[in-house]
Amino acid sequence: MLPTIEWKGDSVVMIDQRKLPASEIYVTCRTANDVARAIKTMIIRGAPAIGVAAAMGIALGMRKSKATGTKQFATEFQKTCALMAATRPTAVNLFWAIDCMKRTFAEAAQAGASVGEITDRLEAEAVKIHDDDVASCRSMGAHGASLVPEAATILTHCNAGALATAGYGTALGVIRAAVEQGKRIAVLADETRPFLQGARLTAWELVKDGIDTTVITDNMAGSIMRSGQIDLVVVGADRIAANGDVANKVGTYPVAVLAKEHGIPFYVAAPISTIDLKTADGSGIPIEERNAREVTHVGSSQLTPAAAHIRNPAFDVTPAKFVTAIITERGIARAPYDSSLRELCRTPNRT
Ligand code: MRU
Repeated sequence: MLPTIEWKGDSVVMIDQRKLPASEIYVTCRTANDVARAIKTMIIRGAPAIGVAAAMGIALGMRKSKATGTKQFATEFQKTCALMAATRPTAVNLFWAIDCMKRTFAEAAQAGASVGEITDRLEAEAVKIHDDDVASCRSMGAHGASLVPEAATILTHCNAGALATAGYGTALGVIRAAVEQGKRIAVLADETRPFLQGARLTAWELVKDGIDTTVITDNMAGSIMRSGQIDLVVVGADRIAANGDVANKVGTYPVAVLAKEHGIPFYVAAPISTIDLKTADGSGIPIEERNAREVTHVGSSQLTPAAAHIRNPAFDVTPAKFVTAIITERGIARAPYDSSLRELCRTPNRT
């Protein structure tokens, strides 16, 4: 698997996900501003991946800082954190990663560390967030694979794969782990209008791994479910509220409703860093509204009349009652989610 994002000491390198699958181009970010722009413009996307990018962006910004005193350094640090926080609003992993960096800074400053020592600790924390994410995905995969029967056909929406994480993937991690256990798996990948993460990214990753993959348009899932050809659904998440409501790529909610109607299990795979206990339910999750051009155009061709109004909410919220189980790196949570999620979040696994 090609790396999604890599720390290079004086730069951050990431694969340009806007260009896939046509070209495999790597972008080098040399400043915190470059990283913030990469998150905003979807060079890198996917909840855990943008958390890693934000942490690396902060580490990079502070590595390039010219501040000599800790006071000026602290002011620049706060500004860099604010820059990353303003990139995208929905995925909570971004804010979780910024909080990790803030905690590292505060602990180092409190211990009397110099600017150079704080910089080193920030870099080590960003690399740890990256490495922990790969380990979480592997562990999520192991837990989730136990829910996948032999010879299953699995529907997924958007891209919750290696590209959306530091590696291996959340929902695709579950699929990869089931395949590694020797199960015969076929995947149906929703195209995922308007940004086409399913058609472009999920299909690209799975085909590269030799996994049987069929791309369908988003409006085909219902009839394929009714014909009995889907055994389970597994998707990722951008933010999970304390009551188990799940924000994920727009189009996830209708898939969940259809799955319930057809008696098909609907699983969500996400790391603990995606669970936001401070948000009571889905109504408190900010939904990003993206540029109309993503809807009006495919490439340079305009599909819609110029005078038409356009909506482009990038995420939707699936109420907890449609979610069969939430797969995390610490185990599987089931309803009632208020207690099961709180319980899973209680035991810290970060050292
Ligand atoms: O707008 P994106 O591409 O960043 O949205 C990504 C998704 O909605 C993914 O399904 C989600 O982040 C889970 S990724 C492990």
